[in-house]
Amino acid sequence: MTIAIRQLHSVCGEVEGVDLRRPLAPGEIASIHAGMDRFGVLVFHDQHLTDDQQLEFSRSLGPLEEVDGGHISKPEELRLAEGLADVSNLDRDGRPLERSDRRRMFGLGNRLWHSDSSYRPIPAKYSILSGRSVPSFGGDTQFADMRAAYDALDDETKAQVEDLVCEHSLIYSRGQLGFSEFTAEEKVKFAPVLQRLVRAHPTTRRRSLYLSSHAGGIIGWPMPEARFFLRDLIEHATQREFVHSHRWRVNDLVIWDNRQTMHRVRPFKDLTERRDMRRTTIAGDGPTIAQEMRRTGT
Ligand code: OGA
Ligand code: MN
Repeated sequence: MTIAIRQLHSVCGEVEGVDLRRPLAPGEIASIHAGMDRFGVLVFHDQHLTDDQQLEFSRSLGPLEEVDGGHISKPEELRLAEGLADVSNLDRDGRPLERSDRRRMFGLGNRLWHSDSSYRPIPAKYSILSGRSVPSFGGDTQFADMRAAYDALDDETKAQVEDLVCEHSLIYSRGQLGFSEFTAEEKVKFAPVLQRLVRAHPTTRRRSLYLSSHAGGIIGWPMPEARFFLRDLIEHATQREFVHSHRWRVNDLVIWDNRQTMHRVRPFKDLTERRDMRRTTIAGDGPTIAQEMRRTGT
């Protein structure tokens, strides 16, 4: 069977005809990359994967990102093996975390619009999220098309944002939620990094707004002005027409391109339900501030 991709939205394609438990042929891998370049998000249904199968499939798309440092869990609290980021609501024993658990509160930051690892000097390329248990109601993941958001800016704003550089940190994103108690060690680990506000896709050359909840400053701008400007851009970029919502079914696997999209998870009400989500992450290929901004044909 060959891979077929059906468009659900400008930012999302639904993939059929592939079993991700088996090694993929080079042509299948090329089709997935081409689908990612075109849509930014791909949804695969009924992918009943083990952690090892998820890791192996992920590695076939590119080298994995180093996962250390994006969470506040102590090593002995980790539920999943190295290479897998735990974005569930579960403790080590698979039980839902208490409402006031510090790890849960930190994880609530995923409800803010963001791009994964934008707080790292080299941010992530793809994120690959497998839904092993999903709540009966709520907990959808939404995706915003940051290419369409860029295209819809007026020319003045396009010129204004072209060369702006932002500061990103987990301290900024969690600070928005009133989560401000960081240890001295965490403050060092989460020190701000620099990211361009406009990115050009290396293959398609399409420009995207590179925004994230982690962005908390613009180089050369007073902080409050930067915060308002970024807030307005996020509001613009997450208008209904640019956003696709994914309602999870068990064993869905969703891949998104962090260079061209933002995402957020929506709340679910019943805190005793398990939402077991496991993420693998494909590394980006360089710092955004060093990227080539050449336009096609110039
Ligand atoms: C993530 C993330 C959203 C979700 O894994 O990076 O933001 O729906 N997850 O769990
Ligand atoms: Mn995320």
